[in-house]
Amino acid sequence: MVRSPLKAPQHVQALLDKLHKLSIEQESQLKGDKARFVSTDVSGSADGATPHKYLENDLNSKASLDDLMRDKFIALDEDKCHFVYQLIRAMGATNVIEAGTSFGVSTIYIALAVSENKKDIDGRKLKPGVIATENEPSKAAKARQHWAECGPEVEAEIDLREGNLLETLASNVEQGVDLLLLDIWTPLALPTVKLIQSKLRHGAVILTDHTLTAAEGYKELLAYFEAPNSGFHNLTLPYSGGFEMTVYNPRK
Ligand SMILES: C[S@@+](CC[C@H](N)C(=O)[O-])C[C@H]1O[C@@H](n2cnc3c(N)ncnc32)[C@H](O)[C@@H]1O
Repeated sequence: MVRSPLKAPQHVQALLDKLHKLSIEQESQLKGDKARFVSTDVSGSADGATPHKYLENDLNSKASLDDLMRDKFIALDEDKCHFVYQLIRAMGATNVIEAGTSFGVSTIYIALAVSENKKDIDGRKLKPGVIATENEPSKAAKARQHWAECGPEVEAEIDLREGNLLETLASNVEQGVDLLLLDIWTPLALPTVKLIQSKLRHGAVILTDHTLTAAEGYKELLAYFEAPNSGFHNLTLPYSGGFEMTVYNPRK
């Protein structure tokens, strides 16, 4: 039996089950591995928001790509969400950033974990513990609906920044970020890390989805992490497509 660390009310668990199921159904209809949605050759006219190579057989313009993705979850796999939840609990994290929110599935796990952590330290008065980011207004609206369905424990924990995350994360991010989840198109991963790096606390963790299947797209990010004296230390977790756990321990 596979055990889950998740502590969630029945209606939240039911919602998560439903959303994961919908996400998987959508992906199977798209006839491909999820990695195709995040892999990229990083060539061409990157506007920073578009995975270039993915769906190259199906699509040939950014407009059709945006149209196709508008109603797609591309949610983080459930087992990875459980890991994110467990890790946040282990770290006692109360300051988490999610790069790429979509309909807000992984955000629910993060909010639940942060909310539990705050109970441990009587941190009810702390600011919302999760900064979520989404540039597609209809997806942001749907995410808000889902969080409202979950209730205040989740909803009150999330500060959703709508728009391009390279702009929305450029200000009002407090020092001491515990964890950054990179579930975003690969060309945005390294710029996001560079934007947030000075805010990371010692021992902060960056989680990056699909670092094996989208290795080409993550080449620059991984080289940046692996550069001598970068302060970053990588471990590829054996989840589907690879899930990178990077710890930030810079030396002065
Ligand atoms: C893989 S999905 C995130 C899935 C989400 N973490 C979940 O588990 O439900 C990536 C999302 O990033 C959003 N996105 C793409 N470029 C962005 C940008 N520049 N700023 C903010 N969000 C962006 C996309 O619209 C998409 O919904």
